[in-house]
Order: sequence, then C-alpha cells, then structure tokens
Amino acid sequence: MKRLLSGIQPTGVVTLGNYLGAIKNFVKLQNELEDIDFLVFIADLHAITVPQNKTELRKNIKTLAALYIACGLDPKKVHLFVQSEVIEHTMLGYMLECNTYIGELERMTQYKDKKVKQIEGVSSSLLTYPVLMAADILLYDSDLVPVGEDQKQHLELTRNIAIRFNNKYGETFVVPEPYIAKQGARVMSLTDPTKKMSKSDPNPKSYINLLDDINIIKNRIKSAVTDSDGCVRYDIVNKPGISNLMTIYSCITNKTYEEIENQYQGLGYQQFKADLAEIVANELTPIQERYKELITSKELDAILDEGRDYASMLARRKVSKVKDRIGLGRKK
Ligand code: AMP
Ligand code: TRP
Repeated sequence: MKRLLSGIQPTGVVTLGNYLGAIKNFVKLQNELEDIDFLVFIADLHAITVPQNKTELRKNIKTLAALYIACGLDPKKVHLFVQSEVIEHTMLGYMLECNTYIGELERMTQYKDKKVKQIEGVSSSLLTYPVLMAADILLYDSDLVPVGEDQKQHLELTRNIAIRFNNKYGETFVVPEPYIAKQGARVMSLTDPTKKMSKSDPNPKSYINLLDDINIIKNRIKSAVTDSDGCVRYDIVNKPGISNLMTIYSCITNKTYEEIENQYQGLGYQQFKADLAEIVANELTPIQERYKELITSKELDAILDEGRDYASMLARRKVSKVKDRIGLGRKK
C-alpha cells in the first residue's frame, strides 16, 4: 500500500483554476490509483505565516473542506483533516528544524518571493515554513505527494531532511517522491489571458469563484477577452484568450483541442462561449448544491473528526519514535 498526502492552504476564495489545476486532480488520483491510503489536509498553520483575519480564516477552513468533498473527494477513500488539530505537525516541525540549515531555507524561491511582498515585516515562520511542510509529509511516512510545480523545491528539501535524519539517527522516515500531474491545466485570467487566473487578482472579473452565482459565472465566460478573428483554434501564442477557454472546455468535457476545433468550425466565438458557459454551469451547479448541504450540516464536522482521529493516531506513533531516536524525554 502506498500513502499519498497533500495539503492546501485555506486562503481566499477557490477559483476555477484551483479546481481544474488541483482539486480535480486529487479526485482523479483517488478514483484511479489502487491500494492507496490518501490523506488530505487543510494547511491552516501554513496560512498564518502571513497575516490573516481571524474570522476569514475560520470561514476559509470550513469552506475549503466542504468544497473538497463537494468537488468529489470521497470521505470513504480520503481522510480529510485540519492541520492545526493534529498537534504533532508542529512538534515534528521543531525536531526537523534542529536538523535543517538556515542557508537551505534562505535558498527557497517561494521564501525569496514572499519576503519582498511583506509590508509589516517578515515572520520567522515564513523562513521555516518548508520545514513544517517537511514535517507534514514525513509524519505520515508519505510515499507520494501530489503538488504543483511550484512546490517541487520544497519536496526536494523534504527529501534531503529525511535522508540526513536517517543517516544521523538510523532509518526513521520514508523518503517521499513528488507527484506532479503530467498535464496539470494552467487556467489563465479571463481579462488578461497572459496571466494566471488568481484569486489575488484585484479585478474579480478575471477569475471564477466556484461559489459565485451561476449567472455571474456564465457572464464571466461570455465576456472573457478573446481576439477578433472569430476562429476557434488552439494557438497559445497568437490566440491566448480563446486557447484558455478551450483548455477549460477540454478539461471539463475531456474533448481534445482538435475535436473542439472541428466542432466549432465556421461557428464563431459567440456560439462557442455560450456552449462553454453552459458546460461550466453544469459542472459547477451540482458542486454548489452539495456545498450548500455540507456547510450547514453536521456531516462535514463528522468527516473532519474522523480525519483528525486517524491522522492523530499515525502522528502520535511517529513522533514517539522520532523522540526516541533523538533521545528526548524519558525512556519508556
Ligand atoms: P493557490 O491558490 O495559489 O494557493 O494554489 C492552490 C493550488 O491550485 C495549487 O496546486 C496551484 O497549482 C493550483 N492553481 C492555482 N491557480 C491555478 C490556475 N490558474 N491554473 C491551474 N492551477 C492553479
Ligand atoms: N505548501 C503547499 C502550498 O502552498 C501546501 C502544503 C503544506 C503541502 N504542507 C504540504 C502540500 C504537504 C503537500 C504536502 O501549496
């Protein structure tokens, strides 16, 4: 049996980009891989490395959990939990920090990028964040970690920390492998198709929030920026707008670009956009309905309780083993 683990930060709204580029991928892994133990957690401790509003954070944690289930993660197949509810993450994080060099952390690209954006000062946790991420992974002896390309460097660091620890204290951790989706869709902004669709874009018309009103979503698609030649053809360089919409179309319907091109030959953008608006609406309507049920029910809490209990059981055992390896506490 292989263990898969991934975490997602509860920051801001969840966009169509998150759905097609990340969430749908988890659902696919859950359904296609056999003999796996899959853990997914809401990385709330990671979210507070930069300032967060308390009420918003609480809301985002629940929303994200509900959306994951609504999008198809099956609680019978996946253990879903909230990171801060399993205290061993921070405990192992500290023990790993004692085996990580500052120089290694200062080399992390994401740290360098985020550091310059901080107005109120840089927290020390922004620097140590990748060690907490290593703890998240090593705590559960994870074999495979599905992440986006941007997390590859953190995965490499995790592997180095695991190997170093094993060499120093004896075999303790499984050395994990990253699992980067082969064709992870990159969904672009609807107003500027040369930029990635992002919830932090100041123009809300540039993205689709999965929980937006369906009519607003349809209008966003219909008014997406495209070129003026009117031919539905995939050409990312010269026709980035229509190519982006074709990516969305293809991800949802599983049709190839060629099939879409043939289908819309001579039909123009208006028909294509109207159809895509319906396709997206049909994909998101059941998700929104399921979300509404979950967010007000006790079911979600029960799912998160089960996830927490299962994760805690594994985490307690592991931390006890690591303490023993290092020589912490008293011998039992
Ligand atoms: P973020 O919202 O940046 O924290 O990203 C959460 C997850 O969604 C990561 O796995 C990203 O790679 C993925 N993601 C975010 N935006 C997009 C996008 N526009 N297209 C595809 N994937 C995305
Ligand atoms: N750092 C990841 C991100 O920003 C989220 C994350 C935290 C994670 N811990 C993890 C992903 C462990 C995979 C495994 O997207």
